[in-house]
Amino acid sequence: MCGIVGYVGEGSALNMVIEGLRRLEYRGYDSAGVAVLVDGKLETDKRAGKLANLEASLQEQPLPHSTTGIGHTRWATHGAPNDRNAHPHLDCTRSVAVIHNGIIENFAELRADLEERGHQLSSETDTEAVAHLLEEEVASLGDGLDLAEAMRRVCRQLEGAFTLVAVHVDAPDVVVGARRNSPLVVGRGDGENFLASDVAAFIAHTREAVELGQDQVVELRRDGVTVTTFDGAPAATHGYHVDWDASAAEKGGYDYFMLKEIAEQPQAVADTMLGRVGRDGRLHLDEMRLSDDELREVDKIIIVACGTAFHAGLVAKYAIEHWTRIPCEVELSSEFRYRDPVLTTRTLVVAISQSGETMDTLMALRHAREQGSRVLAICNTNGSTIPRESDAVLYTHAGPEVAVASTKGYLTQIVACFLVGLYLAQVRGNKYGDEIKSVVDDLRKMPDKVAAVLERMEPVRALARELRDCTSVLFLGRHVGYPTALEGALKLKELAYMHAEGFAGGELKHGPIALIEEGVPVIAVVPSSLGRGSLHDKVVSNIQEIRARGARTIVIAEEGDEGVVPYADHLVRVPSSPTLLQPLVTTIPLQVFAAEMAAARGHDVDQPRNLAKSVTVE
Ligand code: F6R
Repeated sequence: MCGIVGYVGEGSALNMVIEGLRRLEYRGYDSAGVAVLVDGKLETDKRAGKLANLEASLQEQPLPHSTTGIGHTRWATHGAPNDRNAHPHLDCTRSVAVIHNGIIENFAELRADLEERGHQLSSETDTEAVAHLLEEEVASLGDGLDLAEAMRRVCRQLEGAFTLVAVHVDAPDVVVGARRNSPLVVGRGDGENFLASDVAAFIAHTREAVELGQDQVVELRRDGVTVTTFDGAPAATHGYHVDWDASAAEKGGYDYFMLKEIAEQPQAVADTMLGRVGRDGRLHLDEMRLSDDELREVDKIIIVACGTAFHAGLVAKYAIEHWTRIPCEVELSSEFRYRDPVLTTRTLVVAISQSGETMDTLMALRHAREQGSRVLAICNTNGSTIPRESDAVLYTHAGPEVAVASTKGYLTQIVACFLVGLYLAQVRGNKYGDEIKSVVDDLRKMPDKVAAVLERMEPVRALARELRDCTSVLFLGRHVGYPTALEGALKLKELAYMHAEGFAGGELKHGPIALIEEGVPVIAVVPSSLGRGSLHDKVVSNIQEIRARGARTIVIAEEGDEGVVPYADHLVRVPSSPTLLQPLVTTIPLQVFAAEMAAARGHDVDQPRNLAKSVTVE
């Protein structure tokens, strides 16, 4: 949440910062602001609303040229999303400008003390306290401004989660950053350096990045980067090359990033398997950093995740338990850490997170490690905090996901979980090689099946447009179709701002059926009619029951499944797949439906209201 950019170099700081903010706007769009250093003065502009408002204002009143600057796009926590609370925040002397992502938990106390000492705070934010604390620390350090040291001193007074970036009028070629529990990466260019919440901000200029560790302060100059701990000791850093380029973070001709990301799913699914499954069906996951002995010891798996990633975990549970016979629980990260879960050294905790920065998931994994459990991260973002703090990691290879609503991130999380489940089965000998090979062969066919579904989405889009004025849509599924129903409902809620709920088919008669009235659209995900026949027939019975009560049934069923035809007001066909793998195809019509519904209702598909992509606060 909140996007942060800092720049020092030879180019126009304002252009670099605005360009970075454009790429980070998915992190928050309540307000945007910039500060640049010009001839010993701070020049700032900040506006409530989307970045476009700030850009319009800068167009009207351009800021003077500068080579050092910072910028922020906000997801509001403390204080309303207005101009006054927009970042950057300045101190009393207008010498220091600060931007922040996170929550400073002791801010009320700090603010009261600052006011008692005569500071005038003009916003309702927790961030502003930092600007005034920096003012004090700079003054107490005396001549020869050391902004990094002032920042270290301030950080030692702060509680909570924060990324901070600051500039000072007396340090014209310096940008200082700090991080605790919130993301910040350095981009190393030629004669210029960047700081940002995410590499996307600077990827058009450099692909060389440096991860910052927990409780570190970084001083950025044109020709160098110095990293220290909050105590001032030199800190070891880890540099890496970003393996995607700027074009991956562009819309590429689509109206919305979400549409592009939906379309990228065949490739994303294939890439996530690439190099990990041999033609012989054997899995190669040595990169995970968990030894086979460690995996053989596991006697329980707990998956922790939030939102869409949690739904990927729910799908994974069906597969992992079936393939490995290891009990597998799935829990919302935010619940897990507050309920004293039973964890031992033989528990494997799997933390799923696209961004790698979700605070609740980070806290859950820390809790698990404190209890001695091993943590495996499934993550899409290289260099992010969750994989860094885990014992092991398996990256999804979805490429950058920019739309707030996760699509390719979700499908690749499911694939990565499948790989983990199959690998466990291989290592522990729960399945014979040929059984694993048969699943792997089916998995290999999925990218083509995903592509085939995408090709026939026009009727789904037309249906979404037709239903644009309805007030509620219900989703129904069983087995892995149940998390698919939950995911379909979540997508619709977050994008179309309408009532949407997912149900397990078997629960219908225990309450939800009361919601059925004339014309209510219900999307039913029908399991394969092969193999688990009874499951299929039970969902078909559910469809009959709701149709008899007036529901308008939208049925997602496999090609060749003729049993559903009499009960479907609308039929969406997907290629036939083994039941456990079905979510990789049945989810897609639900994503397309939600995106089209949002567009038809006039909403911003990529940036739904009140949301942000990376939830770095609890
Ligand atoms: C919904 C969505 C969110 C995220 C959730 C977890 O479309 O994107 O529900 O899935 O905020 O995010 P990550 O995976 O980054 O931990």
